[in-house]
Amino acid sequence: MTDRVAALVVAAGQGTRLSSSPDDLPKQYRHIGSASVLSHTLNALARHPDIDEIAAVIGEDDHELFQASLQELPSSHRDKCQGPIIGGDTRQQSVRSGLEALNGLGVKYVLIHDGARPFVSQDIISGNLDLLQSGSKAVLTAIPVVDTIKRATDNGLETVDRSGLWAAQTPQSFPLNDILQWHRLADGEDTRTFTDDIGLAEWQGADISICEGSPDNFKITTPVDLQKAERQAEQMTSEPLSQSNSLADLGDIRVGQGYDVHAFEDGEAVILGGVSIPHTQKLKGHSDADVVLHAITDAILGGLADGDIGSHFPPSDPQWKGAASDQFLVHALNLVRKRGGRVAHVDVTVVCEAPKIGHHRDALRQSVAQICGLPIGRVSVKATTSERLGFTGRKEGIACLATATLRLPFNDTDE
Ligand code: CTP
Ligand code: MG
Repeated sequence: MTDRVAALVVAAGQGTRLSSSPDDLPKQYRHIGSASVLSHTLNALARHPDIDEIAAVIGEDDHELFQASLQELPSSHRDKCQGPIIGGDTRQQSVRSGLEALNGLGVKYVLIHDGARPFVSQDIISGNLDLLQSGSKAVLTAIPVVDTIKRATDNGLETVDRSGLWAAQTPQSFPLNDILQWHRLADGEDTRTFTDDIGLAEWQGADISICEGSPDNFKITTPVDLQKAERQAEQMTSEPLSQSNSLADLGDIRVGQGYDVHAFEDGEAVILGGVSIPHTQKLKGHSDADVVLHAITDAILGGLADGDIGSHFPPSDPQWKGAASDQFLVHALNLVRKRGGRVAHVDVTVVCEAPKIGHHRDALRQSVAQICGLPIGRVSVKATTSERLGFTGRKEGIACLATATLRLPFNDTDE
């Protein structure tokens, strides 16, 4: 997509239905596993290759909490995040502040998303973008209502006809100019409160397209939802398996290998798999010399049969000097996604005498898993010495081997 796309994440609420005391953190800053609800949300949006920037709207007292959530993101995802923008007393006001902040920055389309909805899938984001690109002025993510619905009346209960009923989710997506104009008009009508943005499109009589959402894309509202989110995060791969890209449907199984070496030089820590490990030396290189992420990147490019890290990121290019290597890996992951595929597993062997990797193994797995959007059970990190033989044995540097298993859709032109 060439038109600039922003995601607007509203996270300025108090989460009163979840908190049991005023001292509780707002729900978007509660943790699911090792990261806050909001980090999960930002990560899911930033991972999508067609989202160019993310604007977050937060409460005025939440700057520190927001910065902590940003720190939980891989740096290339963090780089997509602007702001933050300070929200208002209602969701509608918070969205309005965000839209005003995005105005004039050359953004054509905006996906408005609840910060408290951490499991939005790549398919849902793509579905919203496809509808916008084909000319929709308003896109609602929604799921058909499956329960029988009752309405309480003065005389008892009545059953509501379920056909045609949809439960609204986010993202809700629009050309920025249209939704901004509707919000400005709604502000003049002080009796109206809209609890979502499609409500404004309905009020304006705009045509609305529906992008089918998922029960996994639920909003964390009550304490039970937070427990459900914990369980879902443990079970899920990075994104809910949809029919279009479940592993079972991706029959073209590829195995790519990668290998990289960096020499030691004076320093205080080595960066491996995005994790800084204290050491008496550091690794020398044009970027941050993260030998693990470089080997994984090459393994993925190998699986795609699409060159190597040097052909995608020439070492002669000054822009990669000192660069955090997760962006190389994210680039390779995006190439896999653009081909409709997924990485299913990553296996790494680090070869060095020192530092000892054992205590850091789970931190490395966690970091690589987060960058790749994989559950930790699909990331393996092993380490070995080379029995004091060769350059690794002489402690001159670190070598790393990586294997990536890729699942791609069968493509007639490749066969
Ligand atoms: N939101 C916002 N500004 C507000 C109110 C809500 O940015 N003034 C955001 C919330 O942070 C949340 C989303 O809008 O991500 C959906 O709102 P809701 O689930 O109602 O969140 P809260 O208002 O925080 O929760 P509660 O209604 O239980 O207090
Ligand atoms: Mg609310």
